[in-house]
Amino acid sequence: MTTSASTATTTTASADAAGSPGMGAGAPLPVGGAAPVAGGSVTAASASGAALSMAGRGGDTPAAEGHQYAPQWLELRESADAVARAADLLDPLRIRLANLPRRATGLVVHDLGCGTGSMGRWLAPRLDGAQQWVLHDQDPALLRLAIERAPRAGADGSPVTVTTRRGDIGRLTAEDLAGASLVTASALLDVLTREEIEALAGACADAGVPALLTLSVVGRADLVPAHPMDQEIAEAFNAHQRASELLGPDAITVACEAFAQRGATVRVHPSPWQLDDRHIALTEEWLRGWVGAACEQRPELTERAEAYLRDRLAACAAGELRVTLHHSDLLALPRPTGGTS
Ligand SMILES: C[S@@+](CC[C@H](N)C(=O)[O-])C[C@H]1O[C@@H](n2cnc3c(N)ncnc32)[C@H](O)[C@@H]1O
Repeated sequence: MTTSASTATTTTASADAAGSPGMGAGAPLPVGGAAPVAGGSVTAASASGAALSMAGRGGDTPAAEGHQYAPQWLELRESADAVARAADLLDPLRIRLANLPRRATGLVVHDLGCGTGSMGRWLAPRLDGAQQWVLHDQDPALLRLAIERAPRAGADGSPVTVTTRRGDIGRLTAEDLAGASLVTASALLDVLTREEIEALAGACADAGVPALLTLSVVGRADLVPAHPMDQEIAEAFNAHQRASELLGPDAITVACEAFAQRGATVRVHPSPWQLDDRHIALTEEWLRGWVGAACEQRPELTERAEAYLRDRLAACAAGELRVTLHHSDLLALPRPTGGTS
């Protein structure tokens, strides 16, 4: 890696369920909200007053060209992410970490595609002991924010320190993970390619490091109340994600296979966003990005989609729309080398 330092009715708005059969994954679908605040996404104001965010692909938040993510978008989603994360995966992770040889430096955690550091703010206070977090991202502005907002203490009050590495995760190697206790990522897998996920799994396996890879879109959104266009928009959105080399809703399955093929024990747990009248701003931005990407994929939908978006935004503003955006969290534990489990 090159670095420098519910109401009665629910509609399932997805056609394809990528998921991880037999591994307990939540149902799969792509979700992709926009990050229309900054970072290059394009917002097209429509005649109806609804704005379709024509952004990039994946990550719940399609980043625009250049894969820049607006810090405002990452802030908007952080509390929903925190609630969604699969806490059930923490106990097996803690057991594995407790069985690691004790180091004076404490745990060394590499957070890949850290953005502003949301994963560390959630996980560090849930792990005991001193922690050194190494935050990886390609975006120096996000890395600066991640340092400013870094967690200070673990669950038991032990110190947490943070350093950053700017670089391309796709080029991560086992050498980059030397001495690591844990690799984490959040809302990252679906913006990677198959080759990048294979390389990541290989690096973790070669370094013998567990991985907690959270909030990967899996390919399904449930909107309540239902609307006749939900399915059409969802299918167009999925097609948009798959129109690039990025894996989108297929990422979780590819990652499970990649880690399992390298001898890891893989657990997957659902981690859906549950959006309601407490998340109006987040839901609005997600809707704009979701519908915008669908129209980018199928321009002939635009006129009807604008009316759809206008209706959905009105329901959202009135606190009458609920959305479940399905994700999965993945925990990969490499084959123990020293009698640990
Ligand atoms: C959807 S955001 C998630 C950010 C953060 N993990 C969170 O949960 O808020 C994806 C992040 O991955 C970074 N990223 C995407 N592809 C990358 C790559 N190939 N190398 C390094 N960083 C990458 C982006 O810059 C962005 O910060």
